[in-house]
Amino acid sequence: MTPRLLPVLGQRGSRSRMTCQYRCGNACDHPEPNLSGNTHIQDVLAEAVARRSVLKAGGAGAATLVLGGLADRPAAAAPGTGAGRPGVPGGIGALDFSPVAPNTRDNVTVPAGFRHDVVVRWGDPVVKGAPAFDVHAQTAENQALQFGYNCDYVDVLPLPGGRALLVVNHEYTDEQLMFPAGEYDDATVVQIAMQAHGISVVEIERGRTDGSWRQVPVARTRHNRRLTVTSEFELTGPAAGADRLRTSGDPTGRRVLGTLNNCAGGATPWGTTMHGEENFQGYFDRSGSVDSRYAESYARYGISSSGRGWSEVDPRFDLSQEPHEPFRHGWIVELDPYDPGSTPKKRTMLGRMKHEGANSGLTADGRAVIYMGDDERGDYVYKFVSRDRVDQGPGPRARAHNLTLLDHGTLYVAKFAGDGLDDGVYDGPGTWIPLTIDTESFVQGMSVVDVLVDTRLAADRVGATRMDRPEDIERNPVTGKVYCALTNNSQRGSTYPVDEANPLATSMTRSSLSAPLRPSSGNRNGYVLELTETGNDGAAESFGWNLFLVCGDPEAPETYFGGFDKDQVSPISCPDNVAFDGVGNLWISTDGNALGSNDGLFAVPTQGPERGKVTQFLTVPIGAETCGPLIVEDKTVFVAVQHPGETDGATFENPTSTWPHTDDFARPGVVAAYRG
Ligand code: FEO
Ligand code: CA
Ligand code: CA
Ligand code: CA
Repeated sequence: MTPRLLPVLGQRGSRSRMTCQYRCGNACDHPEPNLSGNTHIQDVLAEAVARRSVLKAGGAGAATLVLGGLADRPAAAAPGTGAGRPGVPGGIGALDFSPVAPNTRDNVTVPAGFRHDVVVRWGDPVVKGAPAFDVHAQTAENQALQFGYNCDYVDVLPLPGGRALLVVNHEYTDEQLMFPAGEYDDATVVQIAMQAHGISVVEIERGRTDGSWRQVPVARTRHNRRLTVTSEFELTGPAAGADRLRTSGDPTGRRVLGTLNNCAGGATPWGTTMHGEENFQGYFDRSGSVDSRYAESYARYGISSSGRGWSEVDPRFDLSQEPHEPFRHGWIVELDPYDPGSTPKKRTMLGRMKHEGANSGLTADGRAVIYMGDDERGDYVYKFVSRDRVDQGPGPRARAHNLTLLDHGTLYVAKFAGDGLDDGVYDGPGTWIPLTIDTESFVQGMSVVDVLVDTRLAADRVGATRMDRPEDIERNPVTGKVYCALTNNSQRGSTYPVDEANPLATSMTRSSLSAPLRPSSGNRNGYVLELTETGNDGAAESFGWNLFLVCGDPEAPETYFGGFDKDQVSPISCPDNVAFDGVGNLWISTDGNALGSNDGLFAVPTQGPERGKVTQFLTVPIGAETCGPLIVEDKTVFVAVQHPGETDGATFENPTSTWPHTDDFARPGVVAAYRG
């Protein structure tokens, strides 16, 4: 029997049809689930077009955060100057590399003077007892011990002795590329796919060259772990145990099997990791009768039959049998990678949505602030502020306290106002609208549980601003400003209007590197939004915002690069995940280049004379997306190479990528790049 092939529908955006089908169930082909009619600033487009060339940069700010780990996060809280810092010569943050040119190679391409290694690939043994990978003799049991498919979020947390924990999400599977035709039956395909989802924790150690890293042989590890669709997770916070979270398999509403579609994430200041459950809607069978009480909620989250066939293997994915199962997904998972026996937590206080990811900082008074994007056309930007302060002391009491922080606090959604374009800038004021605290809802007619389970519906009611696919949102640890990647939105300006924060109804794209730029409807290349919270405090309920980057080809009239000379920047399209190096440069990975090149990773100073100078650091192979960028110790750039070869028509037998070229098929994997 051949593996189940999902119906590949019409092309949208610049991503392959195959990626759209497998990753998000063709969300773009379904009517947009946000029908709120929420606010827009509707009178700006004509002026915007006229004024694009005179856009100006936003102002400076100040703050510094405390974050753990090896990543380039300042190690102590101190008042910042807002000026940014120069990079150390020879360090990654110096940004003294020559840009990698746009290309369509089936490889990872890094700047001259750099090398890169594949640290771990799909199928590599992770847990003791894992067999060597054999794509022709795979089993669910084997996959449960091996590195999963389609790696996304990457983090690196320190261990004693020069080792570290590599923590990685596995967002989704592509059965057409994973399975040789005719070798597996449908049920086996589903069972293996379930084990290829989830999270991996992998011990790594330094390699021979300064900045290089390699996997520790599994027999010598203590922390390695795989979490999959059959692993146990605990629901915590105000919605845990609610009626709508109970199923026949879990009458408590507190124990969930599995995490679905883990996209991006981030580390907390107390050394745990947060993982976003994103396109969780795509795993359920809706062909039977559906409980009418949940029709509005299902519609708002786009829950529709996926065609993945999971309900045929596990009936909890059949909505007619388990109408509550979808409410048990779409959360932020908190994992303690240092405790391999711990049960990961789904933190309901952070709301339920298509979580791209979560990134943390500290407020001025030492509480945790978590920024989150809901990645859907026309959906919202959120943050959570904890009720209690982070305990920065050592020892188990501090750790136990910190592991409660994400269960109590305030969940906010963002509203962006424009101040018009007379000032020549896409900018304006904004408000964080409180939706609920753990004991009291601020949304009329909705309880705390309602707000947390149907967070999108709650945000609709308070008039949040509809954005162009909010992805990663992260606070610059040097300046305190907050950056949000808005990937794209082909429908902006047609099915609903532009506004000052989402201003493009037309943008220039090209079908190949040699093709001319042509106008396409909507926002095709994305933006990077810059927020300055009042007092540079993550607890603030107001902020100023401006578009830091209007992405695309520098030759396109609509593009804007923080005010920098457009003749000196790299073209960038579809920003997705963001990271910072130790001196506050912003690193941006892309998903779905609309300019004919493979996706890549870019660095851009946010302060000083080179503010806005976007420089490409690497490109990924054919069909791949760049995920999980992380800068470690000013020496190493980690990225996840997700879905190499996922181009329309590609199959296991007829691949368009065989990266990393260790086999005759592609294997998603994590790469470390360093000078050498
Ligand atoms: Fe999984 Fe929003 O990208
Ligand atoms: Ca992503
Ligand atoms: Ca303005
Ligand atoms: Ca994305």
